[in-house]
Amino acid sequence: MSWWQETTIYQVYPRSFADSNGDGVGDLRGVIDRLDHLVDLGAGTVWLSPFFASPQRDWGYDVTDHCAVAPEYGTLADVDELLEEAHARGLRVMFDLVLNHTSDEHPWFVESRSSRTNPRADWYVWADGGGRRRRPNNWRTAMEIPSAWQWGEERQQWYLASFLPFQPDLNWRNPEVKAAMFDVVRFWLRRGVDGFRLDMFGSIMKDPALRSNPFRPGMLGGLPRLWLPVHTRNRPENVALARELRAVCDEFDPPERVLLGEVFGSPAELRAYLAEGDGLQLVFLFDFLTYRYSAAWLRRTIARFESAFPPPLQPTYVLENHDRSRTVDRVGGDEEKARVLACVLLTARGVPTIYQGQELGMRNTYIPLREARDPVARVFRFIPEALNRRIPERPNRDEVRTPMQWDGTANAGFCPEGVEPWLPVNPDHTRRNVAAQRDDPSSMLALYRGLLRLRRDHAALRAGTLHLLDERHVLAYERRHDSGDVLVAANLEDHPAALPVGTGARLLLATRGDVELDGPALRLPPHRAAVVAPGRT
Ligand code: GLC
Ligand code: CA
Repeated sequence: MSWWQETTIYQVYPRSFADSNGDGVGDLRGVIDRLDHLVDLGAGTVWLSPFFASPQRDWGYDVTDHCAVAPEYGTLADVDELLEEAHARGLRVMFDLVLNHTSDEHPWFVESRSSRTNPRADWYVWADGGGRRRRPNNWRTAMEIPSAWQWGEERQQWYLASFLPFQPDLNWRNPEVKAAMFDVVRFWLRRGVDGFRLDMFGSIMKDPALRSNPFRPGMLGGLPRLWLPVHTRNRPENVALARELRAVCDEFDPPERVLLGEVFGSPAELRAYLAEGDGLQLVFLFDFLTYRYSAAWLRRTIARFESAFPPPLQPTYVLENHDRSRTVDRVGGDEEKARVLACVLLTARGVPTIYQGQELGMRNTYIPLREARDPVARVFRFIPEALNRRIPERPNRDEVRTPMQWDGTANAGFCPEGVEPWLPVNPDHTRRNVAAQRDDPSSMLALYRGLLRLRRDHAALRAGTLHLLDERHVLAYERRHDSGDVLVAANLEDHPAALPVGTGARLLLATRGDVELDGPALRLPPHRAAVVAPGRT
């Protein structure tokens, strides 16, 4: 197996991880200083959200120079040191590549928008429409409500911006754009990065004829939408591009460099990105971000992905990231349920990702829409605050981006006391923090650490096949491997459950101490999960 097939990914949002120089903003040196936390946790790979030059209107997902480091985050020398220090600890490193768009302040766009004839006139997606009154077609942004077309006064034309108006889409059909961006990829690979997470990769190629999307209300990636994005998402050309990017990665010496796509769609659409083993290696499966807390739902979801991504392919499950609600909030504040989900995340077959603070059970930090620093929240400012509080998937992403909680001091150890952090620290940090949880065996941190240790100790959890068991009231599956099988059982109901596990079974881990082996039966109180070495039947 290649390293990435057995790894676990830990997402660092650099702005909120650790501030080393006391300006209230996290930075690369802060990440270097805290790498031992990842080692202690037992993660295999660190993925860093963007730290590249940017006016920070979408906090780094609006890049002005893909090969430069934003000064508040550090320098290229810091990047090199981070790679070196991570590698010295046995960690792999992935960066976040924003290929779909740049900032509108990127020199390429400044030039492109200046006239219809400049050398970069075709580097972005420009179209006439019907003058300033009529847009070229009905394409919508990722938020679905506003149009994706923005008026460019100088050229008297529309430009496409699939996310926010200040993030114009690059024209990937232009060979010069492709060559320039491939050189960006090579620039970082040469410095030793082990792979990339590809931002909005599903939107990268659009219909060249700019046909309107058909009106068909439904859901996509857990969000409501009105138009079926056939002409703007998951186009076959994306897969061809995935192959080309993979070829660029394969120009480099081992270790194998890995591409992980941010894509939304059906399992078949997602599977297509892996091509014949020569496309992306991994694609995020975001279904757990919008899950229902039920054994039946989890069983169905795992079964769907097992059939779309059979071995040696690897599903890539996600419970949290920098865009969506924290798990504990999604399950109504019940930490026991979050523990059950953590157990499933880290024992299902595939490459799990953990978002910073998830291992502490960090909560959303309520921040009203009118105080939001997140540009997406500003799109939704028309939502009344009272209603906003009741939407579980609130659009203010600040709420999941507050500083990492290292200890119980005034700024949670994120930045020095007396400094104002860029986003407020969650008041619960006095209780919920790394220092407090490190030596507490009942903590969320201890659970994550224990689960990651089990993955390291049991090849069945890293490399075994997965077989769902036909249990009605618990979610149960076996991970089978020549070196020994492992059984996982999760009770997502409000009443106790029992499961036969054979005589001589051993309990390897439970989400709480009240899970018991009673002869050949595993007894699970409500909202408990356990990992067992099965006995003889
Ligand atoms: C992705 C990122 C999100 C960002 C957007 C635009 O969805 O995860 O944080 O704002 O792309 O780049
Ligand atoms: Ca700083």
